Amino acid sequence: MATRETLTVTDNRTGKQYELPIENGAIRTADLRQIKVSPDDSGLMGYDPALTNSATCKSKITFIDGDKGILRYRGYPIEELAAKSNYLETAYLIVKGELPDERHLEMWKYNITIHSMVHENIKKFMDGFRYDAHPMGMLVGTVGALSTFYPDAANINDLESRRLQTRRLIGKLPTLAAFAYRRTLGLPYVYPDNDLSYTGNFLSMLLKMTELKYQPNPALERALEVLFILHADHEQNCSTNALRAVASSQVDPYSAVAGAVAALYGPLHGGANEAVIRMLTEIGSKERVPEAIKKFKAGEGRLMGFGHRVYKNYDPRAKIIKQTAYEVFEVTGKNPLIDIALELERIALEDDYFVSRKLYPNVDFYSGIIYQAMGFPVTMFPVLFAIPRTSGWMAQWAEMVRDPEQKIVRPRQIFIGEAPRAYIPIAQRPAPSMREDAVSPEI
Ligand code: CMC
Repeated sequence: MATRETLTVTDNRTGKQYELPIENGAIRTADLRQIKVSPDDSGLMGYDPALTNSATCKSKITFIDGDKGILRYRGYPIEELAAKSNYLETAYLIVKGELPDERHLEMWKYNITIHSMVHENIKKFMDGFRYDAHPMGMLVGTVGALSTFYPDAANINDLESRRLQTRRLIGKLPTLAAFAYRRTLGLPYVYPDNDLSYTGNFLSMLLKMTELKYQPNPALERALEVLFILHADHEQNCSTNALRAVASSQVDPYSAVAGAVAALYGPLHGGANEAVIRMLTEIGSKERVPEAIKKFKAGEGRLMGFGHRVYKNYDPRAKIIKQTAYEVFEVTGKNPLIDIALELERIALEDDYFVSRKLYPNVDFYSGIIYQAMGFPVTMFPVLFAIPRTSGWMAQWAEMVRDPEQKIVRPRQIFIGEAPRAYIPIAQRPAPSMREDAVSPEI
């Protein structure tokens, strides 16, 4: 039988048959609209809350095979990049599509580092936050505020403007993040030191005290490079999807990245590494791990840092981070939480609940343990995720802006509310208790 790249659908309501093209292993959900029971029917829709099985774009940036635990940026395996590359080179690869030669890498480094300063008004902006403000909240606000300093960023269809905003954002994120950190400690802000590497400069802006020049520990600087490479992009995750949705209105990239940082803040996404440390601290000892596992299985909380929408195997980033943890401990001393984490992993990976649901450690399971050993407070963990992810966001943004198939993101809904009804004057309305179902109990 001759095969065709199509899907034949029979609508049992009408008996009609439709042949839908299959392209790249997908049907276009818009092709379902022709399936109608009557001419005034608006057509069949796909219902996919949380977009668990809908591709929203074609992308050339990041490849994930969740079943096999494979991650590649622009075709390069994550393991090779983590072992051989550095963050700025990987950011170039992600943004531009190819690894740079020496001359282009030097130019790229220069173009990023000349944008590491922020307008002095940003400091005043930072000072407006309460002393105990979460640094990730400060980052959402200040990244969004950058759009007011660069009105040229509205020019999203101009290649040079897109390049400039990309360099600015990758250059300024560490500065904003470090300023937010220093604000929480009441310490003076440290200006960028462009003689240092991307991560070395970041450490300097965080940790420099009275010394004339901050010298980062090479092992910790390298560990941060590896962590930044691992976090640089991860295709259509929650924050990247938020970025694309916000940017689809053609707003400037600072506003779109602020939306992405906000999405990353949540405990189910970039906030998970913070939640892992809180969870490990609460468990407190290896002996209490079985009891904790029992609770997670009973639905009392989740084993944070475990499970993934796409990976149904060990997250390849978690493997590298676990290895890196021991290199960091050589310098910092062991973080005792690693023993609890290892025990959780050991028991969970033998337990049918986790095995049958294919729940494995994800990127956040071990990263917080390293960050904590390096002396970062837990509130900085999602910030440490946002800095390197900026290159991924900018690459995804540029890809979207240039994609002729992209339009403003505007999903459909299935309306399940009231049928039309007449307005009732307030004096004649029944008390809400008589209409319990009309008042949403969770608000
Ligand atoms: N602990 C216990 N049970 C879990 C967990 C977990 N960490 N994750 C999923 N499950 C269970 C879940 O209860 C469900 O069970 P059942 O089928 O009996 O209802 C099943 O596994 C499928 O879970 P789901 O919630 O439908 O899966 P999802 O794809 O919607 O969620 C996830 C993915 C990452 C949000 C989720 O696994 C989770 O909440 N993990 C903990 C938070 C976390 O580590 N997040 C970081 C994600 S990786 C980096 C990033 O994106 O930032």
